[in-house]
Amino acid sequence: MTTFLTPFTFHNGVTIRNRYLMAPMTTYSANADDTVSDAEITYYRERSFGVGAVITACAYVLPNGKGFPGQISAHSDEYILSLKRIADAIHDGGAKAILQIYHGGRQAVRDLVPNGDIVSASETVAADGGMARALTVEEIEEIVVAFGETTRRAIEAGFDGVEIHGANTYLLQQFFSGFTNKRIDRYGGSVEKRMTFLLEIIESVNRAKAQYANDQFIIGYRFSPEEPEEDGITLDETVQLVNRLADEKLDYLHISLGDFRSKAHRYSGEKENRIKILKLIIDGRIPFIGVGSIYSPEDAKEAMETGVDLLALGRELLIEAHWVEKVAAGEPVITEMDMSRDNNIPEPLMNMMKRNVGWVPGVK
Ligand SMILES: Cc1cc2nc3c(=O)[nH]c(=O)nc-3n(C[C@H](O)[C@H](O)[C@H](O)COP(=O)(O)O)c2cc1C
Repeated sequence: MTTFLTPFTFHNGVTIRNRYLMAPMTTYSANADDTVSDAEITYYRERSFGVGAVITACAYVLPNGKGFPGQISAHSDEYILSLKRIADAIHDGGAKAILQIYHGGRQAVRDLVPNGDIVSASETVAADGGMARALTVEEIEEIVVAFGETTRRAIEAGFDGVEIHGANTYLLQQFFSGFTNKRIDRYGGSVEKRMTFLLEIIESVNRAKAQYANDQFIIGYRFSPEEPEEDGITLDETVQLVNRLADEKLDYLHISLGDFRSKAHRYSGEKENRIKILKLIIDGRIPFIGVGSIYSPEDAKEAMETGVDLLALGRELLIEAHWVEKVAAGEPVITEMDMSRDNNIPEPLMNMMKRNVGWVPGVK
């Protein structure tokens, strides 16, 4: 246990006080103009005293990428002050602040995007069952620029880093997936070509870093390892992706999983733990963050045995905002939501959990 409570230094020399991070979690609680709400600020501050870093809810980089009601925006300079409030709240607790940057693609919400115009890598089904249209090359280039511009805003707002959201079926993943990317230009075709878009985004984010920040600015990348669909992402393809990303100008890779114990489904090798398989591929080139269903200190210990360098905690930090401090002090933690406790969870997030019983343990 103690090893994950000791400081961790990234290759760029930045040290965080321990190896636990808060996983990015959308709160559905922004103000009507998509600036951060007071309730969100209180929520972040409460959770910033134990973990080494907080990865924020995803912030959209362009209006047509908005994927949730009450999602925070980072798409124009008007939002820098809003972003600064988040970074400041996280810094109050002594954690590093990492802004997750995002485009929803076909998963965007039609009523929330301009003209109900939903876009993706190729023409495909949107989240509402309607259609998403294929982006033009010019529009793709605009999105690549938008990720760089959003990074500049994160820097100006005082964030210590950004995490590029390449997971959970959103736009970057839609480009990597053969299920949603049927393009025949430089953005589609082979596995390598399906990486073009996300590699251009990594480059754009790095350009902003070079121009506006220094080496200390952290750039992370999050990915989902597999998709269930026939043409969807296999773990073999993700092995290729991770192999490539491990040599990119990134400070960490972050897998997205509901359970760290999950095993490979679509893989030509032995179908063992996904994190273990990918950790072997990474082979120490870049720090790797594991995640998923870590509630108790025993879960954390088991998760560490996969070999990951860092662990992200999501739902457990909703349940126990001070999990890291309590574990460090040898105090017991609860692993199911105590509905009578004031956890400073914004109301729209709590309502969302109540509508999806089973999502977060103990929520009724
Ligand atoms: C309420 C909620 C919102 C989430 N929002 C995001 C998000 O904005 N970006 C993201 O990459 N993952 C998001 N996730 C996934 C979490 O980051 C995490 O991967 C997942 O909850 C599994 O970890 P856990 O078992 O520790 O919660 C969200 C999860 C929850 C519960």
